[in-house]
Amino acid sequence: MIKLIVDNNEIEVEEGMTVLQACLDNEIYIPNLCYLKEMDNPPGSCRLCLVEIDGYNQPITSCTVKVEEGMVVRSNTEHIRKLQRTAFELLLSVHHVDCKNCPANRKCELQRIAKFLHFGLKLKRLEPLDREIKVEGDHPFLEYVPNRCVLCGRCVFVCKKKNGQAMLSFAKKGFDTVISFFGEDNSARVSCEECYACAEICPVGALLVKNSKRSAHQRLAKNNNSQRPRPSGRGLKKGNNSLAASIPTLPGGALKGGGK
Ligand code: SF4
Ligand code: SF4
Ligand code: FES
Repeated sequence: MIKLIVDNNEIEVEEGMTVLQACLDNEIYIPNLCYLKEMDNPPGSCRLCLVEIDGYNQPITSCTVKVEEGMVVRSNTEHIRKLQRTAFELLLSVHHVDCKNCPANRKCELQRIAKFLHFGLKLKRLEPLDREIKVEGDHPFLEYVPNRCVLCGRCVFVCKKKNGQAMLSFAKKGFDTVISFFGEDNSARVSCEECYACAEICPVGALLVKNSKRSAHQRLAKNNNSQRPRPSGRGLKKGNNSLAASIPTLPGGALKGGGK
């Protein structure tokens, strides 16, 4: 076991764990979007999970650093909150906020992070970038809404993890980047009908189960209430969908005003 100090509290965790996971497991919430517990090499792309660590000369993404004995971590300084809010604001600048008409409303990670950071979902400093994105290729069972996608990559990861190969992937570049379903192999798509892992893991309302117009979170809730992300404790109760169960969620206390 490894002992480290986070925000002046000593915690003890297993060797090999990321700093982010160590914090989440100890009820210390750090905003995150592109991380899942099962990832061996988290992409570190959303930049929400920045922390200060003694010995590092600048803030670093806590999902990409492994715990070390005696490490001293600060997750809640003014500077860190400012950086997290800036990263969040950049994410929002490419996200079309329309919560009333979104199937993810009230289950959305952006709403939870906004509440934690005391940061509104309406942009103040930046102009929203209206991306006119055409989605190429239709999928028989899934609907992709590009202007809600925060490009976290969770869907690509879980698809590959669950099915051995990813049936969806990032396509294009820069502001045009989207998630694309590729391949015309219908046999692969038939397995989508029995899977929906990508839609279940999506932290926003960007991947939907087609025709139902319900998000996969709502579908999950209907099928098995115990598997849904819940805004308390250490995330999900372990159901038979271990990938959905790995979604890091906010502790209940943090929702009431954890961010500085
Ligand atoms: S994804 Fe979340 S923040 Fe965006 S419109 Fe839907 S509920 Fe609102
Ligand atoms: S579709 Fe959802 S899970 Fe996939 S990259 Fe976009 S926001 Fe992330
Ligand atoms: S969760 Fe660490 S960079 Fe996204």
